[in-house]
Amino acid sequence: MVLARAENVWKIYNSGEPHEVSALRGVSLNIERGRATALGGPSGSGKTTLLSLIGLLSKPTKGNIFIEDQEYSILSEVYRTKIRREKIGFIFQSEYLMPQLTTIENVALPKLATDTPRSVAESKAKERLIELGMEKRLNFRVAELSGGERQRVSIARAMINDPDLLIADEPSSSIDQELTLEVLELLRSMMKQNALTVIVASHDPLVLEWADVKYMMEDGSIIT
Ligand SMILES: Nc1ncnc2c1ncn2[C@@H]1O[C@H](COP(=O)(O)OP(=O)(O)OP(=O)(O)O)[C@@H](O)[C@H]1O
Ligand SMILES: [Mg+2]
Repeated sequence: MVLARAENVWKIYNSGEPHEVSALRGVSLNIERGRATALGGPSGSGKTTLLSLIGLLSKPTKGNIFIEDQEYSILSEVYRTKIRREKIGFIFQSEYLMPQLTTIENVALPKLATDTPRSVAESKAKERLIELGMEKRLNFRVAELSGGERQRVSIARAMINDPDLLIADEPSSSIDQELTLEVLELLRSMMKQNALTVIVASHDPLVLEWADVKYMMEDGSIIT
């Protein structure tokens, strides 16, 4: 079963200007439900751009994105935001965490955005953090955590709204091999427990090997 689909998608930045970039040139792919799909390929090949389209964070210049057979281009911005909040979790660079807030406060943020009372959001955040082995760091500020601990905070935050789809961009960029394996194992167990679908972009061979399905990108296209 297909959860998300890109159909002949183009993304052209700065269209018509001298520094125009065709970041995606007619990409089509299916994201199968319950599986981990990885995007590999050199820097600048379009991985992050494709993730942002599938995550409904930006609009394709041409072509279409479907989430559960709903066509992106006909959805209103309000509805897209609702889908993004309720169905999709994001792990982008860990710098997006708020260093002066505690781990619980950081994880609770996307839940507060869905108009959940603070006490409910924070207790859910605590639950997620404990699942990820962070029970001793609940009231630490993110600035006081190691790279691997921050990564786990990012995962907990991405999972707070029980998403169907988890989108991760370079999830192993700030951590060593051992922690990468640990994070991948965590993701796999969350996939089993929560019927989660994962799409990940990475340069890391460990991440690419771990995935169930792998696509390599080059120059805005999927080549294999
Ligand atoms: N907001 C933007 N405005 C203009 N050009 C952009 C923008 N975002 C990305 N690009 C360009 O689009 C191309 C694809 O970028 P993208 O970030 O998708 O690559 P990537 O495969 O994720 O690379 P990396 O492995 O370095 O993260 C690059 O040439 C980049 O310079
Ligand atoms: Mg990128």
